[in-house]
Amino acid sequence: MTRHFLDLDRIEAGELHAILRRSAEMKAARQGRPRGAPDDDPCLAGRVVALIFEKPSTRTRVSFEVGIRQLGGEPLVLAGRDLQLGHGEAISDTARVLSRYVDAIMIRTFERAALEELAAHATVPVINGLTNQSHPCQIMADVMTYQEHRGPIAGRKVVWAGDGNNVFNSFVHAAARFGFDLTFSGPETLDPDPAVLAWAEAEGAPVRIERDPARAVAGADLVVTDAWLSMHDPQEARERRHNQLQPYRVDAALMARAKPDALFMHCLPAHRGEEATDEVMDGPHSVIFDEAENRLHAQKGILRWCLGL
Ligand code: CP
Repeated sequence: MTRHFLDLDRIEAGELHAILRRSAEMKAARQGRPRGAPDDDPCLAGRVVALIFEKPSTRTRVSFEVGIRQLGGEPLVLAGRDLQLGHGEAISDTARVLSRYVDAIMIRTFERAALEELAAHATVPVINGLTNQSHPCQIMADVMTYQEHRGPIAGRKVVWAGDGNNVFNSFVHAAARFGFDLTFSGPETLDPDPAVLAWAEAEGAPVRIERDPARAVAGADLVVTDAWLSMHDPQEARERRHNQLQPYRVDAALMARAKPDALFMHCLPAHRGEEATDEVMDGPHSVIFDEAENRLHAQKGILRWCLGL
């Protein structure tokens, strides 16, 4: 059966742990090598991976491209607008055609339905590189980063400050799979998707909601935020969202409420001074660039898992 990496709620905890163990091993084995040097085990040799972008990207694009090269494979970057997909060709036909040319497909797209349709018709693995509903590769890198710095994330208190967006949804899935406590702190008007919260409840990993950010962050092991306007949010919403989210800006005073050894994460790109201050972004709690680096290592683990390598 084709192994897709669509969302963390669809994959067993043991499999996710195994992916991250492999990722950490590959990262350790590369210490000190030039970025372009191949891994000891170039297991993607002779394989081509299509990377489809229907939205902009820096980290996802570069980390997948470099990671595939390190594994000995060939990345093929495709802009959605340049494909017939962006001009009316059915996703199901695109899936069947690409499956004849490449060995795996990563896609960054808008609606989850497009991702699902691609996976339903592809005969090669499909990886979710972000949709309006989730961003599982990012959260695999985030969990890897936490564990690298502080050990197992299970049982830790993770606090999300901001709106209930696609990145948060993947944090909800990860909380259930990796066993950490997750608190959402944001305005009621920007609450997370009720279906995602209901899923967490049914999994025995209910998300706490605390409107007061100072109370939410008290005793946190990890504080996370994200840009106040996601790629799919209309620009017209900017001012209204800013007014609603201002109390949830992560500044030094808010971070001081967390545990002294708490970490701060942001998946980037950031709007410095909006969702988090420079003092926090560049401060002693921040691991934002380790997070960005770990996209590379975590995704190599995901690719190997998908391809059974
Ligand atoms: N965090 C993230 O996915 O970054 P990009 O949008 O630059 O890929």
